[in-house]
Amino acid sequence: MRLDKFVCKSTELTKSEAHHVIHCGLVRVNGEITTIESTQVHENNSIFLNDVRLNLRDFRYILMHKPAGTICSNIDEVYPSLFNFLTVDNPSELHIAGRLDADTTGLVLITDDGRWSFNITSPAQKCSKVYRVGLSRPITEDVAHRFKLGIALQGEEQLTRPAILDVISPKEVLLTITEGKFHQVKRMFAAVGNRVIRLHREAIGEVKLDVEVGQWRYLSRGEIAALTKEQP
Ligand code: URA
Repeated sequence: MRLDKFVCKSTELTKSEAHHVIHCGLVRVNGEITTIESTQVHENNSIFLNDVRLNLRDFRYILMHKPAGTICSNIDEVYPSLFNFLTVDNPSELHIAGRLDADTTGLVLITDDGRWSFNITSPAQKCSKVYRVGLSRPITEDVAHRFKLGIALQGEEQLTRPAILDVISPKEVLLTITEGKFHQVKRMFAAVGNRVIRLHREAIGEVKLDVEVGQWRYLSRGEIAALTKEQP
């Protein structure tokens, strides 16, 4: 990792403050003053700022209940960012593991551990995501089978991976998928002649949504570990 990133992740300094202390010669890497912020460092290096040894903060793993009308971005755009609901230090270090559309509600995972979020978002890891879907028309009998075989979405070379459809009522279903193509759920139902009018994510792998809308909590060690495992 770059030295400036290491300084930010081990102190409360902003990026420009980190640059300042590095340029001023206040940072030593393995005993040498280092004034170049892009220097590559490793957490095993001994890195001191003003004679205080720096240690990286632990990774953070957060579950949030995304409200409708918010976006999965670190900054406000047309809609407010869901980070407005997250009261933690250094939110700019965090990213979202699997975005939802502005009108979609439900479970969002937020972290600064890129390797962990790859387990969740990479289709190769087959991490399941469960959506509760409200439909404009009654579901037809053939859809579960078609979703199991895979759907050809416009502009995609590969069929969607096998998905599981559980019918709750004619216009409400649960859909479990293991990938996250752009607008995937809406496009899958459009491909079978239906339209999604409500979309809510209830679970990712073994982690279930259990906080009220707009609320968040840290994941337990067990939940973090469950999402680290490669799926069979
Ligand atoms: N699929 C969609 O179409 N939208 C979402 O927000 C998530 C999955």
